[in-house]
Order: sequence, then C-alpha cells, then structure tokens
Amino acid sequence: MEKPHKGRRKLIKTLVLAMVSLPVLGKFLIPRIQRKNGIFRVKKADVPGNGALVFREKKIAVIKDGKNVYALNLTCTHLGCTVNTTPKGFACPCHGSVFNALGEVVQGPADRLLARVAIEEQNDDILIMTTS
Ligand code: FES
Repeated sequence: MEKPHKGRRKLIKTLVLAMVSLPVLGKFLIPRIQRKNGIFRVKKADVPGNGALVFREKKIAVIKDGKNVYALNLTCTHLGCTVNTTPKGFACPCHGSVFNALGEVVQGPADRLLARVAIEEQNDDILIMTTS
C-alpha cells in the first residue's frame, strides 16, 4: 500500500508539471495568426492623405488611399526581411522584391502579397491589432 505523503508528492509534481508545460504547449497549439500581441491606436489625422504612417519597430504601415485606410505588415513574404517604403510602395532590401502600395507583388522573388493587419476605425482613431 502506498503511503499517503507519496500520493500527495505525486499530485504536487503533476500539478507543477502541468503549470509549467501548459503555456509552452499553448504556444504551439494556438495558431499564430489568432494570437493578438496587442492593440495600438493612431489618430486618423496623423496618417498622411495618400501616404503611409510607418511603425518600423512594429513592422506595420498604416496607409490612406483616398478615403480607404488599411494597414500592412512590413515583413517580406519571401524570407521575412523588413521592407522599406518607396514612393510607389515597398521594396525589400534583402533580395529585391518590390510591392505596390496595396502590398501586391510587383517583382519577385516574393510570390505572396504583404499581409494585411486588422484595423478598426473608431471616431478619430484607428485601432491596429498586432499579432505575434
Ligand atoms: S526576404 Fe524579401 S526578397 Fe527575400
């Protein structure tokens, strides 16, 4: 017969192991795209008309095209470098991919458009939902 304190130790070990492993497992089990890193807010007036407001450290550009506002992830879809803004869109410094202002590929090697970032317009502000 097992002594009572041995059973308790086993239970504590199991609980500690579960507490340590669940956050790690969650990182792999939850799809990356669904994890929201945070939300930040910009003033609509701060986005230049027919231009972009770039948050290089967050790898996000908020773009106003007439009355349309959208945000793009500045991570190149080829191998993940951060693209630079150009007068006509974006250019990747690593292997030369070029994207237009909508994030569509103009020149490879990238073959996928820049990812859109979810935004929500609220009165005078734009909420930008970032993902990890
Ligand atoms: S990482 Fe951008 S073109 Fe290769």
